[in-house]
Amino acid sequence: MDAPTKPSIEEFEIAEACLPGAGLGGYALADEIRFVFSHGRGPRFWDTDGKEYIDYTGGAGALILGHSHPAVVAAAQAQTARGMHMFGALNDQAIRLAKRLVDDIPCAEKIAYATTGSEATAYAMRLARAFTGKDKVMKFEGAYHGNHDYALVSTFPTALGNYPVGQADTGGQPAATRGTMMIAPYNDLEAAMRLAEAHADELAALIVEPVQRIIEGQPEFLAGLRALCDRLGLVLIFDEVVTGYRIAYGGAQAVLGITPDLASFGKVIGGSGALSAVAGKAEIIDLADPAKKGQPEYAYLNGTLHGNPVAAAATLATLDELARPGTYDRLNAACTEFCGEAQKVLDRHGLPAIAANVGSLWQFLFMERPPRSQADMMAGDGAAMKRLDTEMMKRGQYMLPGVRRFFSCVHGQAEVDETLSALDESCRAVAA
Ligand SMILES: Cc1ncc(COP(=O)(O)O)c(C=O)c1O
Repeated sequence: MDAPTKPSIEEFEIAEACLPGAGLGGYALADEIRFVFSHGRGPRFWDTDGKEYIDYTGGAGALILGHSHPAVVAAAQAQTARGMHMFGALNDQAIRLAKRLVDDIPCAEKIAYATTGSEATAYAMRLARAFTGKDKVMKFEGAYHGNHDYALVSTFPTALGNYPVGQADTGGQPAATRGTMMIAPYNDLEAAMRLAEAHADELAALIVEPVQRIIEGQPEFLAGLRALCDRLGLVLIFDEVVTGYRIAYGGAQAVLGITPDLASFGKVIGGSGALSAVAGKAEIIDLADPAKKGQPEYAYLNGTLHGNPVAAAATLATLDELARPGTYDRLNAACTEFCGEAQKVLDRHGLPAIAANVGSLWQFLFMERPPRSQADMMAGDGAAMKRLDTEMMKRGQYMLPGVRRFFSCVHGQAEVDETLSALDESCRAVAA
Protein backbone atom coordinates (compact mmCIF):
# COMPACT_ATOMS: atom_id res chain seq x y z
CA MET A 1 0.00 0.00 0.00
CA ASP A 2 1.04 3.60 -0.58
CA ALA A 3 2.65 5.43 2.30
CA PRO A 4 0.43 7.81 4.29
CA THR A 5 0.53 11.27 2.69
CA LYS A 6 0.28 13.81 5.47
CA PRO A 7 -0.81 13.33 9.10
CA SER A 8 -4.52 14.05 9.27
CA ILE A 9 -4.14 16.43 12.19
CA GLU A 10 -2.51 19.00 9.89
CA GLU A 11 -5.08 18.42 7.19
CA PHE A 12 -8.02 18.95 9.57
CA GLU A 13 -6.55 22.31 10.52
CA ILE A 14 -6.43 23.39 6.89
CA ALA A 15 -9.94 22.04 6.26
CA GLU A 16 -11.31 23.86 9.30
CA ALA A 17 -9.84 27.11 8.04
CA CYS A 18 -11.00 26.71 4.43
CA LEU A 19 -14.22 24.66 4.32
CA PRO A 20 -17.63 25.18 5.99
CA GLY A 21 -17.73 22.78 8.95
CA ALA A 22 -14.49 21.29 7.59
CA GLY A 23 -16.59 19.18 5.21
CA LEU A 24 -17.06 18.71 1.49
CA GLY A 25 -20.84 18.88 1.47
CA GLY A 26 -23.68 17.86 3.73
CA TYR A 27 -21.62 15.71 6.09
CA ALA A 28 -18.89 16.51 8.60
CA LEU A 29 -17.99 13.55 10.76
CA ALA A 30 -17.70 13.93 14.54
CA ASP A 31 -14.13 14.42 15.80
CA GLU A 32 -13.90 10.86 17.18
CA ILE A 33 -14.54 9.26 13.79
CA ARG A 34 -13.35 11.80 11.23
CA PHE A 35 -10.60 10.91 8.79
CA VAL A 36 -8.98 12.06 5.57
CA PHE A 37 -9.27 9.64 2.64
CA SER A 38 -5.96 8.69 1.09
CA HIS A 39 -6.55 5.87 -1.39
CA GLY A 40 -8.88 2.97 -2.03
CA ARG A 41 -8.79 -0.44 -3.66
CA GLY A 42 -11.82 -2.67 -4.15
CA PRO A 43 -14.06 -2.69 -1.05
CA ARG A 44 -11.42 -1.06 1.17
CA PHE A 45 -9.65 2.26 1.60
CA TRP A 46 -7.00 3.84 3.78
CA ASP A 47 -6.89 7.23 5.48
CA THR A 48 -3.89 9.53 5.54
CA ASP A 49 -2.85 8.12 8.93
CA GLY A 50 -2.69 4.64 7.38
CA LYS A 51 -5.85 3.25 9.04
CA GLU A 52 -7.78 0.71 6.94
CA TYR A 53 -11.56 0.78 6.42
CA ILE A 54 -14.18 -1.36 4.73
CA ASP A 55 -16.26 0.99 2.59
CA TYR A 56 -20.03 0.65 2.83
CA THR A 57 -20.71 4.26 1.86
CA GLY A 58 -19.38 3.41 -1.59
CA GLY A 59 -19.19 6.95 -2.92
CA ALA A 60 -22.88 7.45 -2.00
CA GLY A 61 -23.70 4.45 -4.19
CA ALA A 62 -21.53 5.26 -7.20
CA LEU A 63 -18.84 2.67 -6.42
CA ILE A 64 -20.74 -0.50 -7.30
CA LEU A 65 -17.45 -2.02 -8.49
CA GLY A 66 -15.51 -0.72 -5.49
CA HIS A 67 -12.55 1.64 -5.63
CA SER A 68 -10.43 1.89 -8.76
CA HIS A 69 -11.67 -1.22 -10.55
CA PRO A 70 -8.88 -2.15 -13.00
CA ALA A 71 -11.14 -2.16 -16.10
CA VAL A 72 -12.61 1.23 -15.21
CA VAL A 73 -9.19 2.73 -14.45
CA ALA A 74 -7.82 1.40 -17.78
CA ALA A 75 -10.74 2.86 -19.76
CA ALA A 76 -10.49 6.23 -18.02
CA GLN A 77 -6.71 6.36 -18.44
CA ALA A 78 -6.90 5.47 -22.14
CA GLN A 79 -9.46 8.22 -22.76
CA THR A 80 -7.56 10.71 -20.58
CA ALA A 81 -4.56 10.22 -22.86
CA ARG A 82 -6.74 10.75 -25.97
CA GLY A 83 -8.48 13.88 -24.66
CA MET A 84 -10.19 14.79 -21.42
CA HIS A 85 -12.88 17.16 -22.54
CA MET A 86 -14.84 18.39 -25.54
CA PHE A 87 -17.65 20.94 -25.59
CA GLY A 88 -20.25 21.83 -28.18
CA ALA A 89 -19.49 18.89 -30.49
CA LEU A 90 -20.09 15.16 -30.24
CA ASN A 91 -17.49 12.70 -28.94
CA ASP A 92 -17.34 9.01 -29.76
CA GLN A 93 -17.53 7.77 -26.14
CA ALA A 94 -20.69 9.80 -25.40
CA ILE A 95 -22.36 8.46 -28.56
CA ARG A 96 -21.47 4.85 -27.67
CA LEU A 97 -22.78 5.34 -24.14
CA ALA A 98 -26.02 6.97 -25.35
CA LYS A 99 -26.70 3.94 -27.56
CA ARG A 100 -25.94 1.60 -24.68
CA LEU A 101 -28.31 3.42 -22.30
CA VAL A 102 -31.08 3.51 -24.91
CA ASP A 103 -30.65 -0.24 -25.45
CA ASP A 104 -30.57 -1.02 -21.70
CA ILE A 105 -33.16 1.22 -20.05
CA PRO A 106 -36.81 0.30 -20.71
CA CYS A 107 -38.13 3.90 -20.82
CA ALA A 108 -35.20 5.24 -22.84
CA GLU A 109 -36.22 6.04 -26.38
CA LYS A 110 -33.63 8.80 -26.08
CA ILE A 111 -31.34 10.16 -23.36
CA ALA A 112 -30.07 13.64 -22.55
CA TYR A 113 -26.79 14.05 -20.70
CA ALA A 114 -26.22 15.97 -17.48
CA THR A 115 -23.41 16.06 -14.92
CA THR A 116 -24.91 15.13 -11.53
CA GLY A 117 -27.97 13.33 -10.26
CA SER A 118 -29.38 16.66 -9.08
CA GLU A 119 -29.07 18.13 -12.53
CA ALA A 120 -30.78 15.07 -14.01
CA THR A 121 -33.81 15.42 -11.70
CA ALA A 122 -33.98 19.18 -12.31
CA TYR A 123 -33.90 18.54 -16.07
CA ALA A 124 -36.58 15.86 -15.81
CA MET A 125 -38.86 18.29 -13.95
CA ARG A 126 -38.17 21.05 -16.49
CA LEU A 127 -38.89 18.73 -19.42
CA ALA A 128 -42.15 17.65 -17.78
CA ARG A 129 -43.20 21.27 -17.30
CA ALA A 130 -42.27 22.15 -20.87
CA PHE A 131 -44.17 19.12 -22.18
CA THR A 132 -47.40 19.69 -20.23
CA GLY A 133 -47.33 23.49 -20.00
CA LYS A 134 -48.08 23.13 -16.26
CA ASP A 135 -45.91 24.17 -13.29
CA LYS A 136 -46.38 21.83 -10.34
CA VAL A 137 -44.56 18.62 -9.51
CA MET A 138 -45.57 16.12 -6.83
CA LYS A 139 -42.85 14.43 -4.79
CA PHE A 140 -43.02 12.11 -1.81
CA GLU A 141 -42.26 12.99 1.80
CA GLY A 142 -38.73 11.91 2.73
CA ALA A 143 -37.56 11.45 -0.88
CA TYR A 144 -34.21 12.90 -1.89
CA HIS A 145 -33.97 14.22 -5.43
CA GLY A 146 -30.82 16.29 -5.08
CA ASN A 147 -29.59 19.71 -4.06
CA HIS A 148 -31.68 22.13 -6.15
CA ASP A 149 -34.47 24.34 -4.88
CA TYR A 150 -37.28 22.19 -6.34
CA ALA A 151 -35.91 19.03 -4.75
CA LEU A 152 -35.29 20.29 -1.23
CA VAL A 153 -38.87 20.24 -0.03
CA SER A 154 -39.94 17.85 2.80
CA THR A 155 -36.88 15.66 2.31
CA PHE A 156 -36.01 15.95 5.99
CA PRO A 157 -39.39 16.88 7.48
CA THR A 158 -39.46 17.69 11.17
CA ALA A 159 -43.16 16.86 11.34
CA LEU A 160 -45.36 14.75 9.13
CA GLY A 161 -47.16 16.45 6.31
CA ASN A 162 -49.75 19.00 5.94
CA TYR A 163 -50.22 17.52 2.43
CA PRO A 164 -49.67 18.79 -0.19
CA VAL A 165 -47.79 21.70 1.43
CA GLY A 166 -44.06 21.04 1.77
CA GLN A 167 -41.48 22.12 4.33
CA ALA A 168 -38.27 23.91 3.26
CA ASP A 169 -35.15 21.78 3.74
CA THR A 170 -32.77 24.67 3.18
CA GLY A 171 -32.31 28.35 3.72
CA GLY A 172 -32.21 30.44 0.57
CA GLN A 173 -35.08 28.64 -1.13
CA PRO A 174 -37.59 30.98 -2.79
CA ALA A 175 -41.08 30.44 -1.34
CA ALA A 176 -42.43 30.65 -4.89
CA THR A 177 -40.29 27.68 -5.93
CA ARG A 178 -41.38 25.67 -2.90
CA GLY A 179 -44.96 26.55 -3.79
CA THR A 180 -44.62 24.67 -7.09
CA MET A 181 -43.92 21.39 -5.27
CA MET A 182 -46.67 19.20 -3.84
CA ILE A 183 -45.95 16.60 -1.15
CA ALA A 184 -47.66 13.25 -0.66
CA PRO A 185 -46.93 10.30 1.66
CA TYR A 186 -44.87 7.47 0.11
CA ASN A 187 -46.48 4.10 -0.58
CA ASP A 188 -49.94 5.62 -0.06
CA LEU A 189 -51.64 5.39 -3.44
CA GLU A 190 -54.98 6.68 -2.25
CA ALA A 191 -53.45 9.89 -0.88
CA ALA A 192 -51.46 10.46 -4.08
CA MET A 193 -54.60 9.93 -6.16
CA ARG A 194 -56.67 12.29 -4.06
CA LEU A 195 -54.06 15.06 -4.18
CA ALA A 196 -53.26 14.63 -7.88
CA GLU A 197 -56.92 14.64 -8.87
CA ALA A 198 -57.57 17.80 -6.86
CA HIS A 199 -54.64 19.60 -8.56
CA ALA A 200 -54.68 17.96 -12.01
CA ASP A 201 -55.08 21.25 -13.85
CA GLU A 202 -51.77 22.61 -12.48
CA LEU A 203 -49.79 19.40 -12.02
CA ALA A 204 -47.15 18.48 -14.62
CA ALA A 205 -45.50 15.43 -13.10
CA LEU A 206 -44.99 12.98 -10.25
CA ILE A 207 -41.42 12.16 -9.30
CA VAL A 208 -40.76 9.04 -7.24
CA GLU A 209 -37.83 6.91 -6.09
CA PRO A 210 -38.59 3.22 -6.79
CA VAL A 211 -36.78 2.57 -3.51
CA GLN A 212 -37.07 5.67 -1.32
CA ARG A 213 -33.87 5.70 0.74
CA ILE A 214 -34.27 2.25 2.40
CA ILE A 215 -38.05 1.98 1.89
CA GLU A 216 -39.10 -0.43 -0.82
CA GLY A 217 -41.69 1.05 -3.16
CA GLN A 218 -44.63 -1.35 -3.14
CA PRO A 219 -45.20 -2.65 -6.69
CA GLU A 220 -48.94 -1.85 -6.49
CA PHE A 221 -48.12 1.72 -5.39
CA LEU A 222 -45.71 2.28 -8.28
CA ALA A 223 -48.06 0.62 -10.78
CA GLY A 224 -50.90 2.74 -9.40
CA LEU A 225 -48.87 5.91 -9.99
CA ARG A 226 -48.33 4.80 -13.60
CA ALA A 227 -52.09 4.36 -14.08
CA LEU A 228 -52.82 7.66 -12.33
CA CYS A 229 -50.42 9.57 -14.61
CA ASP A 230 -51.94 7.92 -17.68
CA ARG A 231 -55.44 8.84 -16.55
CA LEU A 232 -54.65 12.48 -15.69
CA GLY A 233 -52.11 13.14 -18.46
CA LEU A 234 -49.18 13.63 -16.05
CA VAL A 235 -45.54 12.80 -16.67
CA LEU A 236 -44.31 9.94 -14.45
CA ILE A 237 -40.65 10.42 -13.48
CA PHE A 238 -38.70 7.64 -11.79
CA ASP A 239 -35.70 9.00 -9.93
CA GLU A 240 -33.27 6.15 -10.57
CA VAL A 241 -30.16 8.06 -9.53
CA VAL A 242 -29.63 5.42 -6.83
CA THR A 243 -31.58 2.45 -8.18
CA GLY A 244 -30.32 2.75 -11.78
CA TYR A 245 -27.97 -0.19 -12.54
CA ARG A 246 -27.97 -0.81 -8.76
CA ILE A 247 -31.19 -2.77 -8.19
CA ALA A 248 -30.87 -4.36 -11.62
CA TYR A 249 -29.12 -3.82 -14.92
CA GLY A 250 -31.00 -0.96 -16.62
CA GLY A 251 -32.64 0.15 -13.37
CA ALA A 252 -35.45 -0.80 -11.02
CA GLN A 253 -37.90 -0.30 -13.89
CA ALA A 254 -36.35 -3.30 -15.64
CA VAL A 255 -37.49 -5.66 -12.86
CA LEU A 256 -40.65 -3.83 -11.84
CA GLY A 257 -42.04 -3.99 -15.35
CA ILE A 258 -43.33 -0.43 -14.91
CA THR A 259 -42.11 2.05 -17.50
CA PRO A 260 -42.03 5.72 -16.51
CA ASP A 261 -42.16 8.55 -19.06
CA LEU A 262 -38.83 9.93 -17.83
CA ALA A 263 -36.13 8.67 -15.48
CA SER A 264 -33.07 10.30 -13.97
CA PHE A 265 -29.82 8.34 -13.72
CA GLY A 266 -26.51 9.19 -12.00
CA LYS A 267 -24.11 7.58 -9.51
CA VAL A 268 -23.41 4.11 -11.05
CA ILE A 269 -23.73 5.48 -14.59
CA GLY A 270 -21.06 8.04 -13.80
CA GLY A 271 -18.48 5.23 -13.59
CA SER A 272 -17.11 7.29 -10.64
CA GLY A 273 -17.04 10.39 -12.86
CA ALA A 274 -19.24 13.42 -13.37
CA LEU A 275 -21.90 12.06 -15.68
CA SER A 276 -25.65 11.62 -15.36
CA ALA A 277 -28.60 11.46 -17.72
CA VAL A 278 -32.32 11.82 -18.20
CA ALA A 279 -33.85 8.96 -20.16
CA GLY A 280 -37.33 8.78 -21.56
CA LYS A 281 -39.88 9.20 -24.28
CA ALA A 282 -38.46 10.76 -27.44
CA GLU A 283 -41.32 13.28 -27.71
CA ILE A 284 -40.36 14.66 -24.28
CA ILE A 285 -36.55 14.44 -24.50
CA ASP A 286 -36.72 16.05 -27.96
CA LEU A 287 -37.93 19.28 -26.33
CA ALA A 288 -34.21 19.79 -25.64
CA ASP A 289 -33.36 19.67 -29.36
CA PRO A 290 -31.31 22.86 -29.96
CA ALA A 291 -33.22 23.32 -33.25
CA LYS A 292 -36.23 24.20 -31.07
CA LYS A 293 -34.47 27.23 -29.54
CA GLY A 294 -36.82 30.20 -29.55
CA GLN A 295 -39.96 28.05 -29.34
CA PRO A 296 -41.87 28.35 -26.05
CA GLU A 297 -41.66 24.61 -25.26
CA TYR A 298 -37.87 24.42 -25.86
CA ALA A 299 -36.21 23.05 -22.70
CA TYR A 300 -32.69 24.31 -22.15
CA LEU A 301 -30.41 21.42 -21.11
CA ASN A 302 -26.77 22.35 -21.37
CA GLY A 303 -23.62 22.12 -19.29
CA THR A 304 -19.86 22.35 -19.71
CA LEU A 305 -19.26 18.69 -18.83
CA HIS A 306 -22.29 17.06 -20.49
CA GLY A 307 -21.25 13.79 -22.13
CA ASN A 308 -17.67 14.15 -20.89
CA PRO A 309 -15.60 11.53 -22.78
CA VAL A 310 -13.50 10.35 -19.78
CA ALA A 311 -16.58 9.77 -17.64
CA ALA A 312 -18.38 8.12 -20.60
CA ALA A 313 -15.44 5.75 -21.20
CA ALA A 314 -15.37 4.84 -17.48
CA THR A 315 -19.12 4.24 -17.55
CA LEU A 316 -18.92 1.97 -20.60
CA ALA A 317 -16.28 -0.13 -18.81
CA THR A 318 -18.47 -0.22 -15.68
CA LEU A 319 -21.50 -1.38 -17.67
CA ASP A 320 -19.42 -4.10 -19.36
CA GLU A 321 -18.60 -5.47 -15.92
CA LEU A 322 -22.17 -5.18 -14.64
CA ALA A 323 -23.59 -6.89 -17.74
CA ARG A 324 -21.82 -10.16 -16.90
CA PRO A 325 -24.40 -12.90 -16.29
CA GLY A 326 -25.46 -13.32 -12.67
CA THR A 327 -23.95 -10.03 -11.41
CA TYR A 328 -27.11 -8.72 -9.76
CA ASP A 329 -28.28 -12.09 -8.44
CA ARG A 330 -24.92 -12.47 -6.72
CA LEU A 331 -24.77 -8.87 -5.45
CA ASN A 332 -28.31 -8.81 -4.06
CA ALA A 333 -28.02 -12.30 -2.55
CA ALA A 334 -24.69 -11.43 -0.88
CA CYS A 335 -26.21 -8.34 0.76
CA THR A 336 -29.32 -10.25 1.87
CA GLU A 337 -27.16 -12.99 3.36
CA PHE A 338 -24.96 -10.45 5.13
CA CYS A 339 -28.03 -8.73 6.62
CA GLY A 340 -29.37 -12.10 7.77
CA GLU A 341 -26.12 -12.77 9.64
CA ALA A 342 -26.06 -9.22 11.02
CA GLN A 343 -29.62 -9.69 12.29
CA LYS A 344 -28.47 -12.72 14.32
CA VAL A 345 -25.79 -10.56 15.95
CA LEU A 346 -28.28 -7.79 16.76
CA ASP A 347 -30.71 -10.34 18.21
CA ARG A 348 -28.02 -12.06 20.24
CA HIS A 349 -27.29 -8.75 21.94
CA GLY A 350 -30.99 -8.03 22.42
CA LEU A 351 -30.88 -4.78 20.46
CA PRO A 352 -34.34 -3.76 19.18
CA ALA A 353 -32.98 -3.24 15.67
CA ILE A 354 -33.24 -4.74 12.21
CA ALA A 355 -30.63 -5.14 9.49
CA ALA A 356 -32.84 -4.04 6.59
CA ASN A 357 -31.95 -4.39 2.92
CA VAL A 358 -33.51 -3.84 -0.48
CA GLY A 359 -31.14 -5.51 -2.94
CA SER A 360 -27.68 -4.10 -2.19
CA LEU A 361 -29.03 -1.10 -0.24
CA TRP A 362 -28.94 -1.73 3.50
CA GLN A 363 -29.05 -0.10 6.93
CA PHE A 364 -29.36 -0.88 10.63
CA LEU A 365 -32.70 0.54 11.80
CA PHE A 366 -34.01 0.67 15.35
CA MET A 367 -37.56 -0.42 14.59
CA GLU A 368 -39.49 -3.68 14.52
CA ARG A 369 -40.08 -4.22 10.83
CA PRO A 370 -38.94 -2.76 7.50
CA PRO A 371 -40.35 0.77 7.06
CA ARG A 372 -43.05 1.53 4.49
CA SER A 373 -43.28 5.29 4.94
CA GLN A 374 -41.55 8.39 6.25
CA ALA A 375 -43.81 8.08 9.30
CA ASP A 376 -42.23 4.67 10.03
CA MET A 377 -38.76 6.16 9.57
CA MET A 378 -39.51 8.98 11.99
CA ALA A 379 -40.96 6.56 14.57
CA GLY A 380 -37.65 4.63 14.71
CA ASP A 381 -34.97 5.39 17.32
CA GLY A 382 -32.63 7.58 15.27
CA ALA A 383 -30.29 8.32 18.18
CA ALA A 384 -29.68 4.62 18.87
CA MET A 385 -29.11 4.00 15.15
CA LYS A 386 -26.44 6.70 15.05
CA ARG A 387 -24.78 5.36 18.22
CA LEU A 388 -24.41 1.90 16.69
CA ASP A 389 -23.15 3.30 13.36
CA THR A 390 -20.63 5.46 15.20
CA GLU A 391 -19.29 2.41 17.06
CA MET A 392 -18.97 0.64 13.69
CA MET A 393 -17.05 3.61 12.29
CA LYS A 394 -14.62 3.48 15.21
CA ARG A 395 -13.95 -0.11 14.16
CA GLY A 396 -13.07 0.73 10.57
CA GLN A 397 -16.50 0.23 8.97
CA TYR A 398 -17.24 3.29 6.86
CA MET A 399 -20.96 3.97 7.15
CA LEU A 400 -22.24 7.50 7.64
CA PRO A 401 -24.15 7.45 10.93
CA GLY A 402 -27.87 7.17 10.23
CA VAL A 403 -27.51 7.01 6.46
CA ARG A 404 -28.50 4.15 4.12
CA ARG A 405 -25.49 2.28 2.72
CA PHE A 406 -24.34 -0.04 -0.04
CA PHE A 407 -22.85 -3.44 -0.73
CA SER A 408 -20.67 -3.62 -3.84
CA CYS A 409 -19.79 -6.38 -6.29
CA VAL A 410 -16.34 -6.67 -4.68
CA HIS A 411 -17.39 -7.07 -1.03
CA GLY A 412 -16.55 -10.70 -0.22
CA GLN A 413 -16.50 -13.13 2.68
CA ALA A 414 -13.43 -11.51 4.28
CA GLU A 415 -15.25 -8.17 4.48
CA VAL A 416 -18.44 -9.80 5.78
CA ASP A 417 -16.56 -11.67 8.52
CA GLU A 418 -14.71 -8.54 9.66
CA THR A 419 -17.88 -6.45 9.61
CA LEU A 420 -19.85 -9.01 11.63
CA SER A 421 -17.09 -9.15 14.19
CA ALA A 422 -17.06 -5.32 14.36
CA LEU A 423 -20.84 -5.44 14.77
CA ASP A 424 -20.53 -7.87 17.67
CA GLU A 425 -18.13 -5.49 19.47
CA SER A 426 -20.22 -2.44 18.55
CA CYS A 427 -23.42 -4.00 19.93
CA ARG A 428 -21.59 -4.74 23.16
CA ALA A 429 -20.43 -1.11 23.34
CA VAL A 430 -23.93 0.20 22.63
CA ALA A 431 -25.60 -2.15 25.12
CA ALA A 432 -23.12 -1.07 27.79
C1 LIG B 1 -32.47 9.42 -5.49
C2 LIG B 1 -31.46 10.52 -5.69
N1 LIG B 1 -31.71 11.47 -6.60
C3 LIG B 1 -30.84 12.47 -6.84
C4 LIG B 1 -29.65 12.56 -6.14
C5 LIG B 1 -28.69 13.67 -6.41
O1 LIG B 1 -27.54 13.19 -7.03
P1 LIG B 1 -26.19 14.04 -6.95
O2 LIG B 1 -25.72 13.98 -5.53
O3 LIG B 1 -25.28 13.33 -7.91
O4 LIG B 1 -26.50 15.41 -7.40
C6 LIG B 1 -29.36 11.59 -5.17
C7 LIG B 1 -28.09 11.66 -4.40
O5 LIG B 1 -27.90 11.01 -3.41
C8 LIG B 1 -30.29 10.57 -4.92
O6 LIG B 1 -30.07 9.65 -3.96
